[in-house]
Amino acid sequence: MTDELRLGVNVDHVATVRNARGGAHPDPVRAAHMAVAAGADGITAHLREDRRHIRDDDIVRLRKELSVPLNMEMAATPEMVAICRRERPHACCLVPEKRAERTTEGGLDAAGQRDSLREVVTALREAGVRVSLFVEPEPHQLEAAAELGAPVVELHTGAYCDAEDAQRRDGELARIRDAAARAAKLGLECHAGHGLGFDTAGPIAAIANVRELNIGHFLIGEAVFTGIGEAVRRMRACIAEGRAAGADDPA
Ligand code: PXP
Repeated sequence: MTDELRLGVNVDHVATVRNARGGAHPDPVRAAHMAVAAGADGITAHLREDRRHIRDDDIVRLRKELSVPLNMEMAATPEMVAICRRERPHACCLVPEKRAERTTEGGLDAAGQRDSLREVVTALREAGVRVSLFVEPEPHQLEAAAELGAPVVELHTGAYCDAEDAQRRDGELARIRDAAARAAKLGLECHAGHGLGFDTAGPIAAIANVRELNIGHFLIGEAVFTGIGEAVRRMRACIAEGRAAGADDPA
């Protein structure tokens, strides 16, 4: 097993700030270039149905300009499937989406929506896009993802990051570790993300079966104080330290 751990930087909230005033500044594509220069392995952008942050032309520009893989997050709707099939990003992460939510609040119910998701996963795979399902770290969701033919799952780390005390956080971390092991047994590549910051990313990075972290809100917030390059470099150091600490753990 390789111990490579990729860092995907989500630039949605650069677009949130831009959209607060209209116009073109700050540009999420410029932020993406700076994140890559600082060591991001990939860029993630969520094209929401309401276009509250990333817009269609951001996806087009990211796709055209980036030298690293683009991971497009989206809901499994006909409109998004058509855009994704046209733009053909390296990867697509299917997420649940509710208009009233502030962020992606939970994982996709892959087990409960097998029939509709099967069609979407197939359509995206046929377009050459690597499909990932954003799911809670629960065995039945992983089994559904494998059965649907998705090569990748991304485990939702929100409950772990939001845990109010150490005992609950440890419990959530164990759930993610078990899910990552189950995903590997099912032949799924395992990613993780949501809510991660400098303090919480290391223990997830220590899980050898996790191969990619996708991190946005914290890094863009931190960039206000230090610049995006420094925020990404510091995150890379945190995850390298976490990975090294987990090197002796059984997968
Ligand atoms: N992964 C997925 C699938 C997401 O939907 C998000 C949020 O857009 C993230 C990772 C990143 O979460 P955060 O912005 O909290 O770091």
